[in-house]
Amino acid sequence: MTSVHHDPGIMRPAEVDEASHPLHALSEEGLRTYTAEVLERARRRSAALTDAVDDGELVAQHSPLMSPLVWDLAHVGSQEEIWLVRDVGGREPVRPDIDDLYDAFQHPRSTRPELPLLGPDEARRYVSEVRDKAFDVLAGTTLRGDDLTRHAFAFGMVAQHEQQHDETMLATHQLRRGEPVLHAPPPPPEVVHDLPEEVVVPAGPFAMGTSIEPWALDNEQPVHDVFVDAFAIDTTPVTNGRYAEFVDDGGYRDPRWWSAEGWAYRSEHDITAPRFWRRENGRWWRRRFGVDEPVPPDEPVVHVSYHEAEAFAAWAGKRLPTEAEWEKAARHDPASGRSRRYPWGDEDPTPDHANLGQRHLSPAPVGAYPRGASPLGVHQLIGDVWEWTSSDFLPYPGFVAYPYREYSEVFFGSTYKVLRGGSFGSDPVAVRGTFRNWDFPVRRQIFAGFRCARDVRPGAAGV
Ligand code: AVJ
Ligand code: FE
Repeated sequence: MTSVHHDPGIMRPAEVDEASHPLHALSEEGLRTYTAEVLERARRRSAALTDAVDDGELVAQHSPLMSPLVWDLAHVGSQEEIWLVRDVGGREPVRPDIDDLYDAFQHPRSTRPELPLLGPDEARRYVSEVRDKAFDVLAGTTLRGDDLTRHAFAFGMVAQHEQQHDETMLATHQLRRGEPVLHAPPPPPEVVHDLPEEVVVPAGPFAMGTSIEPWALDNEQPVHDVFVDAFAIDTTPVTNGRYAEFVDDGGYRDPRWWSAEGWAYRSEHDITAPRFWRRENGRWWRRRFGVDEPVPPDEPVVHVSYHEAEAFAAWAGKRLPTEAEWEKAARHDPASGRSRRYPWGDEDPTPDHANLGQRHLSPAPVGAYPRGASPLGVHQLIGDVWEWTSSDFLPYPGFVAYPYREYSEVFFGSTYKVLRGGSFGSDPVAVRGTFRNWDFPVRRQIFAGFRCARDVRPGAAGV
């Protein structure tokens, strides 16, 4: 997989035209209204996640892996203050005294409960005061300029930041003990059956990344051509049922399937199944947001680390897809040679396309959301579960840190693996065909699963 120059006569890969982006159809006032709605949606979700528990639980640390919920809330406000009120608005600081407390780089998650944090009421007042000022800035800022405010980028970035922390708060909810406090409808019933196990993606170049998404983060840019050899990719994410076969086959006890690093990790922590699973009376059960239930066999497996995903793939005679393979499967339209914004096309996600936005509290069974499939017939790439790829989190050729090195650049390297596609707990504003998430390969509390891929011989059927 390398960047390529093209022979004349070969269709040049491209992404969709800038003009086809939905934000371009809006007037400046329309863009302001849209942006305000996206910010409000994020705030409603933050409020719902923090109002669901009492003050004691808001300040408690439910797991050393996570911040107290009240930290996430004020951190979201603090970043909004820094980016929108101070940077864009040029206004006086609201609370310069708390910058350090809510700087994620200053204090690891496990130490955050000991900090003199804002209490629940104070945090709520603070975020609401910052939001009032941010809306004031939005109302008085031109969105046609050439800086942070172009297409309301800084506001979109802040909404994505809040939604990312909302997903983190949802993961904290999953780790808390006690009675369920979150309620959501069950997954939608429409499911297609008898999908083929995998889809072959023919060899060739495609346009990876983006230079036209107005709210794309720095690490998704710029668009660049990548040649990808032919490969096969699972039509759907790996299910609990299939994963249980690996567990029941002794997969966690056989070092053959694991990398040296993965084996050391599973041995040190005595990991024997996905997080939140337990075996009772010959059956797998899981605890999901405070509810005990049998593990549903048709849903994508979730709460597995990269190491477990990699071991399963080896056991299944496959491997994890690279990040480029995942994105080609998700965006490449063989008919036009262009890369779409999403598998289904260029329209923003609707509830018919994907399980996003915490509408449900679990991934949907495989075969759900058939309208969200890619042109080649790969399903459920967006939503349901984040998907581990085999790729390290690295900059694209031509990467420029924007607006801060701390957004992505300081994380580049071999410490993190890339995850793609978003989960049931990701808001649509924070998921795209180009969106890149990253995490430590040992991470299990995030809503991550995976699908497998494998090489195919050139000349094999359809290649
Ligand atoms: C992109 C999800 C890895 O949660 O650490 C939040 C997003 N960056 N605040 C994270 C983020 C700064 C980030 N991830
Ligand atoms: Fe943050």
